[in-house]
Amino acid sequence: MTKNNDMIEWFRASTSYINAHRHKIFVVLLSGEALADKNFANIVHDLSLLHSLGVKLVLAHGARPQITAALEKAGSKSSYHRNLRITESSCIETVKQTVGGLSISIEALFSMGMSDSPMHGADIRLCRGNFVNAKPVGVHDGVDYHFTGTVRKIRTSAIEQQLDQGNIVLLSNLGYSSSGEVFNLSAEEVATETAIALRADKLILLIPGEGVLDKKGDLVPSLTQEDARRYVDSLNQADDEDSRCLSQALQAGLRAHDNDVHRSHLISFKSNGALLQELFTREGSGSLISNDNFDLLRDATIDDVAGILKLIRPLEENGTLVIRSRELLETEIENFKLIELEATIIACAALYETSDDCGEIACIAIHPQYHGNGYGHRLLSSLETTARKNGLKRLFVLTTVAAHWFLEKGFAEGELNDLPQQRQQLYNFQRNSKVFIKQL
Ligand SMILES: CC(C)(COP(=O)(O)OP(=O)(O)OC[C@H]1O[C@@H](n2cnc3c(N)ncnc32)[C@H](O)[C@@H]1OP(=O)(O)O)[C@@H](O)C(=O)NCCC(=O)NCCS
Repeated sequence: MTKNNDMIEWFRASTSYINAHRHKIFVVLLSGEALADKNFANIVHDLSLLHSLGVKLVLAHGARPQITAALEKAGSKSSYHRNLRITESSCIETVKQTVGGLSISIEALFSMGMSDSPMHGADIRLCRGNFVNAKPVGVHDGVDYHFTGTVRKIRTSAIEQQLDQGNIVLLSNLGYSSSGEVFNLSAEEVATETAIALRADKLILLIPGEGVLDKKGDLVPSLTQEDARRYVDSLNQADDEDSRCLSQALQAGLRAHDNDVHRSHLISFKSNGALLQELFTREGSGSLISNDNFDLLRDATIDDVAGILKLIRPLEENGTLVIRSRELLETEIENFKLIELEATIIACAALYETSDDCGEIACIAIHPQYHGNGYGHRLLSSLETTARKNGLKRLFVLTTVAAHWFLEKGFAEGELNDLPQQRQQLYNFQRNSKVFIKQL
């Protein structure tokens, strides 16, 4: 019963994410390592689910370990320069065959529809084509990369046409030059450049690890650009395969971020359901490189009542905030401002004008996961700006537990008598809140 209830709660809570993701473009990097992992079949199911929910998907697959194995089998040795494979003319046929074979295997997986499988009824059309124009990398440090290429252009309108027709677009690490040659590219580059060219809403990079881990080994759920750069520097000191993958993914995310792709998610390809957990729950499962300013501070509307109630209920239950009924909140909603992140309300606060020159700050609440990120400060500053604009001269707040926080924001402790007459009459002596006042 509890398990059932958990599932029902989770499914309900995912509504806002489902609505937020619909019709959005997600570019997903499927590295060769991800394709080879035993969890890959689950990833295909989860991508199919995203497609069914109206997400426009572009998948870019790689083939690094598979090419290495195929070249070894053919008696050729792989050589690298600056972490990039040198694709000699004697190898390009093997590369083409290997990548082609993988693309076909992916097509086959998306075509499954057995009646007892999660793919039943999905009826997915996967489309491939010459969407990536390439040029040779050329010669660097005196080293000729031969048929290793770099992205020259992504044919965005051709991809968009496919997406608009409801198809999933499958790209690979092969690109085609204007002279008709085939080049071996880095799949990370294909995914990143495609996300940038399409102005994708998300770049999703599937990696072997859980995400970015801090010094204590704890997952870092969200990173600024500066954080990501710091981690790249330290990962580049390590020489294991997982660090290399993570560093490459972070660098791809940073490049995307610098070019207006505001969300890059690093998600484990080994963990069953990690993709869904990252995209449909507040807690997430991986690491997100996001634009600091991409969270949205705005006035609340009647549609936000449910989200605000969800945020403040635990604080009402533990006595930090005064209880507000849904009906009261609906009538007072225009007093609220909120901060929204990934379609979820993570912070709110209200300003009530109590008399000609006075206003009350109330119901300031930041979701515990986001404490200490300056959200409280931003909301308070925004309410203070509104108050000044409206000609208010003073703000007050009644608080039981955040006295010092308000002191640090320029409030000074006051007395009940300092409050407007009307507000004094409503003072709840049982709560015994402290009064703080700020002159504007
Ligand atoms: C109080 C609250 C709004 C602060 O929001 P926030 O976004 O975490 O705050 P900011 O990021 O702007 O500021 C963080 C700083 O405030 C400090 N701080 C947070 N809560 C505090 C409190 N109750 N008392 C004193 N300082 C506090 C933090 O330690 C941090 O200090 P630092 O920068 O020196 O490390 C938030 O903790 C919250 O929602 N608390 C529960 C609800 C509540 O108490 N509301 C007030 C009722 S009127």
